[in-house]
Amino acid sequence: MARQPVIRGDGTNKEETSRPSVDSASSFQFDPDGREFDDVLRPQRLSEVVGQRKVVERLEIMLLATKKRNEPLGHLLLDGPPGIGKTTLATVIPKELGAECQITSGPALSAPKDLLPYLTNASYGSILFIDEIHRLPAAVEEFIYPVMEDFRVDITLGEGLNARTLNMKLQPFTVIGATTRSGMLTAPLRDRFVNHQHLDFYEVEELAEIIRRNARKLRSEITSDAAVELAKRSRGTPRKANNLLRWTRDFADVKNKGKITKTVALDALGMLEVDELGLEEQDRRYLKTLVHVFSGGPAGIQALAASMNVPPDTLEDEVEPFLLRCGFLQRTPRGRRITPAALRHLQATLPEPDAHGRRMLF
Ligand SMILES: Nc1ncnc2c1ncn2[C@@H]1O[C@H](COP(=O)(O)OP(=O)(O)OP(=O)(O)O)[C@@H](O)[C@H]1O
Ligand SMILES: [Mg+2]
Repeated sequence: MARQPVIRGDGTNKEETSRPSVDSASSFQFDPDGREFDDVLRPQRLSEVVGQRKVVERLEIMLLATKKRNEPLGHLLLDGPPGIGKTTLATVIPKELGAECQITSGPALSAPKDLLPYLTNASYGSILFIDEIHRLPAAVEEFIYPVMEDFRVDITLGEGLNARTLNMKLQPFTVIGATTRSGMLTAPLRDRFVNHQHLDFYEVEELAEIIRRNARKLRSEITSDAAVELAKRSRGTPRKANNLLRWTRDFADVKNKGKITKTVALDALGMLEVDELGLEEQDRRYLKTLVHVFSGGPAGIQALAASMNVPPDTLEDEVEPFLLRCGFLQRTPRGRRITPAALRHLQATLPEPDAHGRRMLF
């Protein structure tokens, strides 16, 4: 039996022991044990995807050409920060094509044999979505090269002098890979993706539109200025926007008979301790650790993570991209450094440098 991860609505994966399921385009099943909230809000068609105009337009061309020629879509790599729409796009594409879709993820494929059931199940023109593809082990990565290039599997049977290689032909299909760290992908794997699309942070107006649409889907009443207020604090990320909407909706249900006005939104956000730029407790702790423990830096990510008692990956994936975007952080070859803008935002100052230019706190 193969271990089949189920993609949860929030993009995290859960592993189940079952045969790989081939979902038809019309009956997608994510996370059967709850969290329908995210799936209700997830766009189902390309026309429902807000923002990312350039990427969407390019995808539209690719999809039209694919349908016209009746050929499988070229392998596609989607990269961008967490919660930005990679899974959403990857699951919309098979629906647009009317193609079957199988879903797995890098960490779930610990050996080439884990990939085999997906490959033998893949029909002509179907999609195999591999989330967190940067976490594919090296052996699986090498195994997937001939699969992506020639739709061929090379299996070695036996050992030493008795070893034989078995070649198996596969149906041409499409691999869609999603990653938050395209830099961690090896060059040979990256090159096997014909299309590489980068998803970037959203503008406030786009997030406000997502919030307004999703409030309608949830049958919640929200004023336009409240939607903008939530959007401003969503860190350029639809998932954050959805989470803030969900919290504000609960808050409004309890405090204001369900109506989300700007005042209610501000009160709700205040209670969550999300500041006017969207910085949360973890971001502020990161910046304060940099100031108070490392005198503003440069500090290595491992040292910062150890001081905060948080995994370095969490800092690199979830905290730093937004701080870099705000101009609150510099990533130098010697480590992370705080910027004057961040100090102003925190209303903090660094200790005066000593005669050697070092800023000593103790
Ligand atoms: N362009 C968009 N328009 C509308 N809603 C969106 C869009 N992109 C994402 N969302 C919403 O944000 C949620 C999170 O998006 P998604 O799961 O696709 O992110 P992700 O990039 O795969 O994140 P992760 O890296 O954590 O897996 C979705 O459930 C969806 O509701
Ligand atoms: Mg995802």
